Amino acid sequence: MADRFDWVLRNAAVATPEGAVSADIGVRGGTVAAIGSIPPGSSPLEDNLTGLTVLPGVIDTQVHFREPGAEHKEDLASGTAAAAMGGVTAICEMPNTKPATTSPEALADKVARATGRAWVDFAFFLGATAENAGDLGAWENAPGCCGIKVFMGSSTGTLLVDDEAALRRILKNGCRRVAVHAEDEERLKERFHLVEDGAPPAMHPEWRDEETAMRAVARLIALARRTGRAVHVLHVTSAGEMEMLRGRPANMTVEVTPQHLTLAAPEAYERLGTCAQMNPPIRDARHRAALWKALADGVVSCIGSDHAPHTREEKAQPYPKSPSGMPGVQTLVPVMLDHVAAGRLSLADFVRLTSTAPAAIFGMAGRGVVAVGYRADFTIVDLKAKRTIANDWIVSKCGWTPFDGMTVTGWPVMTVVGGRTVMREDSLIDPPRGQAIKFL
Ligand code: DOR
Repeated sequence: MADRFDWVLRNAAVATPEGAVSADIGVRGGTVAAIGSIPPGSSPLEDNLTGLTVLPGVIDTQVHFREPGAEHKEDLASGTAAAAMGGVTAICEMPNTKPATTSPEALADKVARATGRAWVDFAFFLGATAENAGDLGAWENAPGCCGIKVFMGSSTGTLLVDDEAALRRILKNGCRRVAVHAEDEERLKERFHLVEDGAPPAMHPEWRDEETAMRAVARLIALARRTGRAVHVLHVTSAGEMEMLRGRPANMTVEVTPQHLTLAAPEAYERLGTCAQMNPPIRDARHRAALWKALADGVVSCIGSDHAPHTREEKAQPYPKSPSGMPGVQTLVPVMLDHVAAGRLSLADFVRLTSTAPAAIFGMAGRGVVAVGYRADFTIVDLKAKRTIANDWIVSKCGWTPFDGMTVTGWPVMTVVGGRTVMREDSLIDPPRGQAIKFL
């Protein structure tokens, strides 16, 4: 008797590890059970996906969802709804909540809060501090933990570790990947006078300049070499950092964001004001070109959105009182697909940078490719669809996007998590059943 499936997706272009193939996909028990030509009548549920492309589920490994403590701007339900709407099937959430996620209890609390409310799969970073550095090795394998996060420079929230001995202790205690916000705290303090009494938002990359980022990355490269610990440099923004990272040790990985690949100073600050303010900052077109060159040369390991929502009211405060950060989880896929359509990035590289590599970097089990035996997590896209990103499409509680008004080619039309469709044509499909990501 022919194989039976819970669901058959027919006639899609499927991005497999062997390249794009035109095929049917049979899903059983939430995993991919067959790829190829599947006989009619093999399943009670079939979808004809002619004209669409099935990608492995996009994994956004840098989001801030604000729960607990700042649920007026986002929570785990609204943040994961934004992910699902944007074609993202799994997220890793940052620890700068209130309270900060600096203990296994705080992490377990987030897992409990997400269960039954999250639209996509989830994992959480444990925040490192000078105080908990010695415990991290014992705590890092807590269920739902994707790794350790260090803020070397202060940003939103209170987490900060800039002391060399504490950084070394963090890197020596444990094995999981340590994701780092690399800006030099001392230089940030030295230069704050440039903006302290009020300044145009375009001064943000002057205050937090390239040298500020380079100093932290130089320290981090040395620490990664000395300790051998797996280190992930988040949101790299400058030409100078990328030059240094070309010679990085094999235990280091590098992230860039769609914002830094797409926006540039001074235009972004003139157009968006404080809504273009994020840490590390949007820099000029020379730096943006250096990020693209690094991406083409294989220096960049993955793309994360650094989704960091703040309300319009909060953003309306005069710079530098205005908080840093912009939303991004919902726009990652369309913005990057538009770069694919424009020929700046191949679809294979998009898949590697947004799915295969994130899964590999953080050691996620059974994710990151469309292949038999892997989870049926799919980002199903229409590569030809032309749409305009607009604030009224945004389901994040912040209700705005820096990409409002941008017309893109390429759009997520279905988000499939563990064999269940959670978004189809801009609508979420009840109920939210996201699960904690399992790690190898
Ligand atoms: O701009 C930023 N916003 N950078 C960060 O590092 C934190 C984030 C936030 O949580 O708002």
